[in-house]
Amino acid sequence: MENQNINKIYDQAMDEISSSSTSEKLQELKIKFLAKKSVLMSLLSTLGTLPPEERKAMGQRLNEVKAEISKAIEEKENELRKAEMEKKLKSETIDISLPSKKVELGGQNPFYVVKDEITDIFLNMGFEVADGPEVETDLFNFELLNIPQDHPARDMQDTFYISDSLLLRTHTSPVQAHTMKEANGKPIRIICPGKTYRRDDDDATHSHQFAQIEGLVIDKNINIGHLKATLELFVKKMFGEKREIRLRPSYFPFTEPSVEVDITCASCGGKGCSMCKGTGYIEILGGGMVHPNVLKMNGYDPDVYSGFAFGIGIERVAILRYGIDDIRKFYQNDVRFLNQYRKKA
Ligand code: DAH
Repeated sequence: MENQNINKIYDQAMDEISSSSTSEKLQELKIKFLAKKSVLMSLLSTLGTLPPEERKAMGQRLNEVKAEISKAIEEKENELRKAEMEKKLKSETIDISLPSKKVELGGQNPFYVVKDEITDIFLNMGFEVADGPEVETDLFNFELLNIPQDHPARDMQDTFYISDSLLLRTHTSPVQAHTMKEANGKPIRIICPGKTYRRDDDDATHSHQFAQIEGLVIDKNINIGHLKATLELFVKKMFGEKREIRLRPSYFPFTEPSVEVDITCASCGGKGCSMCKGTGYIEILGGGMVHPNVLKMNGYDPDVYSGFAFGIGIERVAILRYGIDDIRKFYQNDVRFLNQYRKKA
């Protein structure tokens, strides 16, 4: 075996590697020069037949050549890969100076705008937000709110029953009872925004599903003045400083005394017009002082604690705030309606 022979193989390999222009060709050269059956490798396997004094030098030389061919193939591979990438990058350039597609901003449903505003107003007064289940028990929806089985007030709150004692809540008031039970005799100041349900006709002013915000404050020495001041502040923040409120005696089984709260009509400022049916006022919510029975049933001593509660219809506030003429528009997802409340980009 002569050095010459090896040098020939080396030169040939280097030649073919440097002139190959595809990775497939390189792959072939790898097999040709480095695979087990290649000339170089078969020379390696015959080393044992050489006289010992030649063997070492020849072995070294063969290994050097093998390593150099491997290296040359690897370098060529990298070179080709780089060239391919550059070619690809050149052919796939994009013109980033073109204006991009406009992202359309959706409009927030005015229902949620108003719900968030009401919530913020009460959070700023120190209320916390409570939550409760929409599927309620008869116990929490009625009994614990002083509305026993045969109470006529149940007639106005017919709803969807899951079983005799499970129903879709007719108001957010059951959250009052849940909160009192959890608070375990401690003072309370919460609101609860949430969905409510009733078996009702669906028309411009009624819907089988609507939403309320419940309010409940319980502490020592709470009186109706606190209720009035709280609601007055709410109305002025929500509808403007000029709005006045009026409390009218009313009836709810869970409050005593109970009140209906009206605000001065935005259209006529209280003089009387077609909007307010000549009365100068528009009703917006119900409230009152928590009934002693409700306090007692839910773990508060009515001789020590007193409280006020209220329930606000969210859609009603939104309707008055934006002059919306049909409650169903909140739920229909009609973009012509929603786009009117789109935030300016
Ligand atoms: N739950 C009543 C309803 O749905 C609204 C209401 C009235 C809630 C008076 C109250 C309240 O907390 O004190 O008609």
